[in-house]
Amino acid sequence: MCGIVGYTGPNPALSRIIEGLRRLEYRGYDSAGVALIEKPASPLQVVKRAGKLANLESELVKNSEANTGIGHTRWATHGGPTDENAHPHIDGSGKLAVIHNGIIENYLELKRELERRGHKFTSETDTESVAFLLAEEFKVVNDLAEAMRLVCKRLKGSFTLLAIHSDVPGLVVGARRNSPLVVGVGTGENFLASDVSAFISHTKSALELGQDEIVSVTSSEVKVMNLAGESVSPKAYEITWDAKAAERGGYSHFMLKEIFEQPKAIADTLIGRITESGLITLPEIEKLNLDFDRILILACGTAYHAGLIGKYALEEWSKTPVDVELASEFRYRNPVLSKKTLVITISQSGETMDTLMALRHAKSLGASTISICNTIGSTIPRESDAVLYTHAGPEIAVASTKALLTQIVAIYLLAMNFGKEKAGVDLKKIATELLSLPNKVEEILETVEPLREMTRGYKDATSVLFLGRQVGYPAALEGALKLKELAYMHAEGFAGGELKHGPIALIENGTPVIAIIPSEESEIAAKMKSNIQEVIARGAKVIAIADSSVKIDLPTIIRIPTTLDLLQPILAIVPLQVFAYEMAVARGNDVDQPRNLAKSVTVE
Ligand code: G6P
Repeated sequence: MCGIVGYTGPNPALSRIIEGLRRLEYRGYDSAGVALIEKPASPLQVVKRAGKLANLESELVKNSEANTGIGHTRWATHGGPTDENAHPHIDGSGKLAVIHNGIIENYLELKRELERRGHKFTSETDTESVAFLLAEEFKVVNDLAEAMRLVCKRLKGSFTLLAIHSDVPGLVVGARRNSPLVVGVGTGENFLASDVSAFISHTKSALELGQDEIVSVTSSEVKVMNLAGESVSPKAYEITWDAKAAERGGYSHFMLKEIFEQPKAIADTLIGRITESGLITLPEIEKLNLDFDRILILACGTAYHAGLIGKYALEEWSKTPVDVELASEFRYRNPVLSKKTLVITISQSGETMDTLMALRHAKSLGASTISICNTIGSTIPRESDAVLYTHAGPEIAVASTKALLTQIVAIYLLAMNFGKEKAGVDLKKIATELLSLPNKVEEILETVEPLREMTRGYKDATSVLFLGRQVGYPAALEGALKLKELAYMHAEGFAGGELKHGPIALIENGTPVIAIIPSEESEIAAKMKSNIQEVIARGAKVIAIADSSVKIDLPTIIRIPTTLDLLQPILAIVPLQVFAYEMAVARGNDVDQPRNLAKSVTVE
């Protein structure tokens, strides 16, 4: 939540910052602002506007001479999305500016204290207190990084903070706690940002910052220290994808592009890890204690659905009990975990606050931890005992698509690895099927046009229900979540077996019901067909997403290629994504930045 960019170097800071904010807008898009050092020791140029980044851009003086500045795109937590509450926030002199991602939990206490000392607040945010505190400390120590360190010691909560001061032009200072911040190391210029996409077109060299670290960046130097004031050497890494991957490339929306990238994303997640003969190579987990008797998966949102889907294969192939829990629920209870519990966290961003806190909770209870993550160097993998990266490439659309499919694939890989030499697990057969998934997803995408057209016919429906059984059930949950996120429609996913225990009461004449049917061989297929008849008898309009072997006579059937039933969600989810996408377009919604949402939920 909230995108943050800082720049210093010989080039115009404004264009570098705006370019970065454009790439980070997925993180929050209810207001945006910039602060620039136009002249040393003079008030900063600060422009901020409610609404999308475009509103800010239309206000900006395009020919700013500034070489140092910070920019922010906001997802409101404290105070509505107004011009006043937009970041940056400045101190009384107008020479210092701060931007923030996260929540300062003790801000009211700090605000009262600062008001007593005569500071006048102009916003309702938790951030403004930091601007005043920082200005006070700077006056005393005359060192912006040191002032930041002293202020951070007083802050409770989670934050990424960036600050500039016109008395020290050419310097950007940052700090992070439980919230992302990376350094982009350019040639004669440096960047600070919430994620690497902000500077990817200028440099592929990045530095990871650890928890509670303070960073000072000039055009030629990056210095990092911890809260104790000791100097720290940050870990350097190279970004493996290029700017093109974070652009729309001819597609009308990032989401559509990312849906179409899924065959490649799945192939990239499998590459080097699996052979046709069923050999699994996961060096990432070699050092991990694999003496476990229970697996617990923790995640949020769509990543939670990846866990629910993966559970079936993980339990069946590893012969180990698997539980899946929402990270936000797990972190606030006293679960029974032991050294023999393996905890798997799943997160595209690697920064989701509830997942991070759940991971720490699990670690404190002695569990071994693996994370499945798409963002190299992010906090969750850094704090896990081992990480399996999904190589999906940057996912920009707020609604997760390719990240989900690769997360499920990563669980299959773990399941196969844990299932080595377990009775009844035919690794060769599973491997052959897994390796054929990219082509099968491609096949679905090549024939998706009629589905897109048909979806538009449902645009005025008030509610859509999704039905599935076994692995089809969490796939149905994901179908419903996607539709809620994108089309702002009432949507629910149900287990077919539960239909008669309540949900069937929702069926009215014309209610669209999307039903997922596995292969004809599965005993579930017949049960799903009965569910379909039951809802049709009550007036539902059924759209079946059916394995191509299924014998069924319905006006609307989306056929998907045959695969192992446990793997079917990888294929069944693709039409569900397209359905939600097309519905959002038909209803005139913002597909890539749906209302009230953000891609990376770094607050609780
Ligand atoms: C937000 C996003 C979802 C995502 C969830 C978990 O809610 O909008 O698309 O599934 O966060 O994010 P993570 O980065 O942990 O996978």
